Amino acid sequence: MRIVVFDAKPYDIEFFEKWNKKYGAKITYFKEKLTLNNVMLTKYQDVVCTFVNDDLNEKVINILSKNGVRAIAIRAAGYNNVDIRAAYHNRVRVFRVPAYSPYSVAEHSLALLMGVNRKIHKAYNRTREGNFSLVGLTGIVLNGKTAGIVGTGKIARIFIKALNGLGMNVIAYDKFPNEQAAKEENFKYVSLEELYEQSDVISLHCPLFPDTKHMINSETIAKMKDGVIIINTGRGGLIDTEALIEGLKSRKIGGAGLDVYENERHYFFEDESGKVMEDDVLARLLTFNNVIVTSHQAFLTEEALNNIVETTLNNILTFAKKEDLVNEVWYDTETKKIVEGLRPKK
Ligand code: NAI
Repeated sequence: MRIVVFDAKPYDIEFFEKWNKKYGAKITYFKEKLTLNNVMLTKYQDVVCTFVNDDLNEKVINILSKNGVRAIAIRAAGYNNVDIRAAYHNRVRVFRVPAYSPYSVAEHSLALLMGVNRKIHKAYNRTREGNFSLVGLTGIVLNGKTAGIVGTGKIARIFIKALNGLGMNVIAYDKFPNEQAAKEENFKYVSLEELYEQSDVISLHCPLFPDTKHMINSETIAKMKDGVIIINTGRGGLIDTEALIEGLKSRKIGGAGLDVYENERHYFFEDESGKVMEDDVLARLLTFNNVIVTSHQAFLTEEALNNIVETTLNNILTFAKKEDLVNEVWYDTETKKIVEGLRPKK
């Protein structure tokens, strides 16, 4: 198998090289993200390995297919950047790493919440400058407050455990509620409306789909409690960032911890410190002292990198051996829906 890895960072290469001793695949690394402009680099490759900001739209996929690429190995859980339907029609198989370390993301969500609430980012900067003043660092006690969780999958359930540990009252919304999970993790399902109205903290853990795009917008923000803290480690597109900025300016929103941003593609994961920032929305967001932005690092732990690379190489090996691909994402022409998991045998 000839594998080309796009958007390869030094930590990706380190873990791929470590695991590939076992697999012995021929791997080429490109630090660039896959786009229409560089898709010619995939010629004579069997598999392209992509991350969250590679652009796998229909045009790119058509060319991948013409170039002889037979599979897209996503080294992430989300696939909103891949046109699954186009891949299916081009006979390009798509597989992913559905869960590599939900603990990593849940723990980062908690770090953002704690950091924003107790203003750790400000305290850190102040004490390093010899400023030991506490003015402006007042937080709130989370014990007894209400956390509203959108999406109650793997990551959210771990996060909910931690919130319960803090003595928070947890309410949640999921399009596909899991009452068993609600019982086990001690939370209550409510409508989105109720979640917005009752929560002191709102944390987003659902995928980005057309129906969840900009679910946090000026209308939904207006329904929220004054001073609400918003945490997003899901996907940037879940939040209408301009509406969030208005909410922060009007003091409706008390703080935000954001690991993702809707236009992160041009900035996140890269060192842009030597350049003039051209994204006015991101620039404005970074001016708020009650906002912490991390650049999509919630997944970034040693455990997650090991799991990501091992599962990706296993997926590729399974594909090469024509065995059952449990981590496939495919388009069902009958239901016209995207399906996660095994394809039924014909
Ligand atoms: P999961 O698939 O276990 O859970 C997602 C949950 O969202 C499911 O319970 C599902 O029923 C629910 N859901 C689906 N559509 C919904 C809707 N319209 N409204 C409300 N809920 C809906 O996924 P997991 O592993 O917990 O990941 C959650 C999200 O976290 C992913 O979709 C991904 O975007 C993001 N993520 C972020 C990472 C980071 O580094 N910041 C790393 C990994 C995942």
